[in-house]
Amino acid sequence: MPQSKPSDATITRAGEIIRAGGLVAFPTETVYGLGADATNDRAVARIFAAKGRPEFNPLIVHGASREALEALVVLSPLADKVADRFWPGPLSLILSRRADCPVSRLCSAGLDTLAVRLPAHPLAQRFLAAANRPIAAPSANRSGGISPTRAEHVTESLGEAVDMVLDGGACPGGLESTVLDMTSDTPTILRPGLITEEELSEVVGPLTGNVSNKIKSPSKSPGQLASHYAPATPVRLNARGPANTETEEALLAFGPNVPEGFAVTSNLSIAGDLIEAATNLFALLHQLDRAGMARIAVMPVPEAGLGVAINDRLRRAAAPRPNG
Ligand code: TXA
Ligand code: MG
Repeated sequence: MPQSKPSDATITRAGEIIRAGGLVAFPTETVYGLGADATNDRAVARIFAAKGRPEFNPLIVHGASREALEALVVLSPLADKVADRFWPGPLSLILSRRADCPVSRLCSAGLDTLAVRLPAHPLAQRFLAAANRPIAAPSANRSGGISPTRAEHVTESLGEAVDMVLDGGACPGGLESTVLDMTSDTPTILRPGLITEEELSEVVGPLTGNVSNKIKSPSKSPGQLASHYAPATPVRLNARGPANTETEEALLAFGPNVPEGFAVTSNLSIAGDLIEAATNLFALLHQLDRAGMARIAVMPVPEAGLGVAINDRLRRAAAPRPNG
């Protein structure tokens, strides 16, 4: 599967592959997406097959423009305000499908809603314009694994299952979009992401309750499986020093005060900066996963701002695996 540097010719070719029902991985400001023509059932089904993804997990549909997305879903006045403020950008909105919505029902996984997003990454925008179709795109990794923030991560995880990877280098954000359910009067964060709760509440008002209350149960957002974003290596959270065992550990550090005694150490952000940590999170998990240690120990990350999304991914990476 060719990994293509983005020229006009490769982007045109990527659009052709999409319209022919193929799969193209492309960079966004969050992570790489595995894109298919959202209006083509067979193409969408290929996404699930390539990822080994349970079919009950719905997909985010990406548009080249706000108008393109408004043809798919109904934007309430509040959703309009949210879109004015955060689009293009790393925010996915769950909205009601229009009666004549052309998007495959597979993307909605049996719900009457659809997740839509307008990415800000210039290469994503060129690709979406060239495809001239709404693009269904989950993160471009095998289901349950670490999300891809570089073209190489996509190739390593999905290999021949993808027809083309548009190589845009490292994704600037490094964490997925925030998923905001706007189908009821009280917007709800279904997945914390690059747009923080604080930023959202400036537009939608306070989101009530504590953080874990506002992140709904798996039945409401089927993608929120317990084990997700998981490296092959087991993960230990809240590490403040080496474990008192013979187990050889790699350390995923955060901040300037890094404990000694680990075989390998990578730091999310020596300065303790959460934006830098978000950008580095998945790339460092990929790197430490390849270090051949028995476990990855992770230092605590503050549960504030972007730290909420980072800790969400880390907890899922450390969660018990479905197959033991
Ligand atoms: O940053 C991102 O959002 C990336 C890039 C490629 O855009 N995409 C991404 O997609 O992370 P994925 O499939 O890995 O995650 C989509 C999340 C899942 O948690 C899924 O359950 C939720 O969005 N979701 C999608 N459609 C939904 C819907 N109609 N109702 C509730 N949750 C939905
Ligand atoms: Mg994903």
